[in-house]
Amino acid sequence: MAHPTPAHQNVPGAQPGSPGPSASPGQRLQLRRPDDWHVHLRDGAMLKAVAGATARQFARAIVMPNLTPAVTTAASAAAYRQRILAALGPEVAQGFQPLMTAYLTETLDPAELVRGQAEGIVTAAKLYPAGATTNSSAGVRDLTAIAPLLETMERIGMPLLVHGEVTDPAVDIFDREAVFLERQLLPLLARHPGLKVVLEHITTAEAAAFVAAAGPQLAATITPHHLHINRNALFAGGLRPDFYCLPIVKRERHRLALRRAATSGDPSFFLGTDSAPHRRQAKETSCGCAGVYNAPYAIESYAAVFEQEGALGKLEAFASEHGPRFYGLPLNSSVITLERQDPTSDQAETVPLTLELGSDADAPLALVPFHAGEALPWRLI
Ligand code: NCD
Ligand code: ZN
Repeated sequence: MAHPTPAHQNVPGAQPGSPGPSASPGQRLQLRRPDDWHVHLRDGAMLKAVAGATARQFARAIVMPNLTPAVTTAASAAAYRQRILAALGPEVAQGFQPLMTAYLTETLDPAELVRGQAEGIVTAAKLYPAGATTNSSAGVRDLTAIAPLLETMERIGMPLLVHGEVTDPAVDIFDREAVFLERQLLPLLARHPGLKVVLEHITTAEAAAFVAAAGPQLAATITPHHLHINRNALFAGGLRPDFYCLPIVKRERHRLALRRAATSGDPSFFLGTDSAPHRRQAKETSCGCAGVYNAPYAIESYAAVFEQEGALGKLEAFASEHGPRFYGLPLNSSVITLERQDPTSDQAETVPLTLELGSDADAPLALVPFHAGEALPWRLI
């Protein structure tokens, strides 16, 4: 359908912010190089198409294991890591470290995690409740079935990364995260008090409050899109498949709570894009895939939010410090530079409407990036 207005009009929070008192075009902002603590790099032609966007901005990334088949073993994580580095090419690969994750299943042997960690291959393990999201069918149906895995992780200090949504079809899709906190996460934390847990891509005020109130064992990642858009954006001017992701975007009050959490300086919150590319044909169809492809302008997208909140001074901590501290990894020593542009100027660099990134099995590989058609106030130089 035709969109009579530019892509992001009427989308609360999606307008580029007006320059704050301290930001003028040409001004530069230097940050310790950030890391992405949650990204989907995919495999094959898609991996080749998207990996560079992440490596360009981030020094490290926690790479999600939801391939088909899922990455469950140390050997499959090592092979996947090699494919990522090969896709980047030797020069780029030198400056980028993929941190691999293992996909938890009810039949996975805890020794796999021990071996993966000992070999320096597996950094964390991911819990997908079966059926919660893309490629989660091999995930966990009954949390008590993975108790031996969680006990092992608690013992060896391996973080558990959680897709925090219940899959009970009787629970409304907009409530699945909040219900997960009470029904699943609270009992899990009580059963495994020593386990480090990251509640991934939080989307609700309830999750932000839960994480802020918990001890240092629990942290959360926050995506750019959940900071920019609320659920109205899904239907602004027509159905907008590019904004469909899981957990689904929520009401405005939740978006505002996430902004407060991200810009609060609380070390429990850090950057995780959940960049989840799906080819355009798979998004714009009768049963479209969930996932926002935000990798190409991720740090710019976060910078816009922090500027709008008058909190640019907190961006570096959120993007480059809280994550490594939680994971027990060193801070990066290199830097990136962002430059302020006037998003209303004719010369402003705008995010392309689509990215044509080669082809896959002879079909063009086109992706619609988050912020398509928009000019953002900061750009990476
Ligand atoms: C992710 C994907 O496509 O792999 N999709 C998404 O909407 N975020 C899976 C996930 O992280 O839930
Ligand atoms: Zn994800």
